[in-house]
Amino acid sequence: MLLLGGGKMGEALVGGLVAQAWSHAKAITVVEPYESRRKDLASRYPGLRVAANVGEAIDGATDGAPDGAALDGAWRPDGAVIAVKPADVRAACRDLASVRVPRVLSIAAGVTTKSIESWLADDGDAPSPAVVRAMPNTPSLIGAGAAAIAGGTSAGNDDLAWAAAILEAVGTVVTVSEAALDAVTGLSGSGPAYVFLVAEALIDAGVLVGLTRPVARQLAVQTLLGSARLLDETGEEPSSLRASVTSPGGTTAAGLRALESAGVRSAILDAVAAATERARQLGSQ
Ligand SMILES: NC(=O)c1ccc[n+]([C@@H]2O[C@H](COP(=O)([O-])OP(=O)(O)OC[C@H]3O[C@@H](n4cnc5c(N)ncnc54)[C@H](OP(=O)(O)O)[C@@H]3O)[C@@H](O)[C@H]2O)c1
Repeated sequence: MLLLGGGKMGEALVGGLVAQAWSHAKAITVVEPYESRRKDLASRYPGLRVAANVGEAIDGATDGAPDGAALDGAWRPDGAVIAVKPADVRAACRDLASVRVPRVLSIAAGVTTKSIESWLADDGDAPSPAVVRAMPNTPSLIGAGAAAIAGGTSAGNDDLAWAAAILEAVGTVVTVSEAALDAVTGLSGSGPAYVFLVAEALIDAGVLVGLTRPVARQLAVQTLLGSARLLDETGEEPSSLRASVTSPGGTTAAGLRALESAGVRSAILDAVAAATERARQLGSQ
């Protein structure tokens, strides 16, 4: 597999894939322009192949190709992942067009499969690669991501399964239509920032009611973590978990009334709708 972009997300994917034994490090070739970054990655993941550009990745693999398809003695990767900044996707596709990989997964925010397909098309008569686009989120960096994938015009179930398996190495994955990716951006893409805002407010609130900041932080973080795990592991609805900790005339009921009268529920609806709309605007530019 060819991985274009050895940045934060690129490294998270390498780490996840190796840890999950989806792949040996030596079956992945990372294309990364910065030499110091290539050295870091190669030393952290023994056996990982690194190259400064796509041409070097292919040429450098002729002696002892990684676990990819060897065609006529020349190595061809089984797929490529684009993990570069959105502004660099066009250049990455141009580099890939000559390699003729069968499938491409892009995690670049806001870049449509239609654009990627057109940038990957070369002038020859070889079939264009299948394109799958994903919207991951930052907890992927610690293996706790939430991502959605959507297939382009020629992506089949095999291509979606291949892309899902890669992203499952760093979290949970759902499949949606490409039109729904803006909504995914509004919910789980931007979602970690909403949760961090709640965390900040909880810590400040703890300080307000007399706790030290370190104590408030420890309690707030574990409250968020524990509540999310309870929701996940019990499979219960959030409304029923909330009702079960709200005793008549009690402290939680008093706290919840304050949240409802401040309009927290509708503020969250507005936040997700605003972020979705913004993703739509950015994608159409
Ligand atoms: N970080 C996240 O949690 C997150 C969440 C959702 C989506 N994403 C998306 O994931 C993508 C990668 O994000 P990131 O945070 O990993 O960014 P990053 O840390 O900046 O990594 C991008 C890497 O790709 C390199 N690069 C640029 N052009 C290249 C090319 N033509 N071929 C090969 N490598 C090239 C960059 O080098 P230069 O520095 O020279 O450009 C950089 O090392 C972005 O499109 C982002 O929108 C990230």
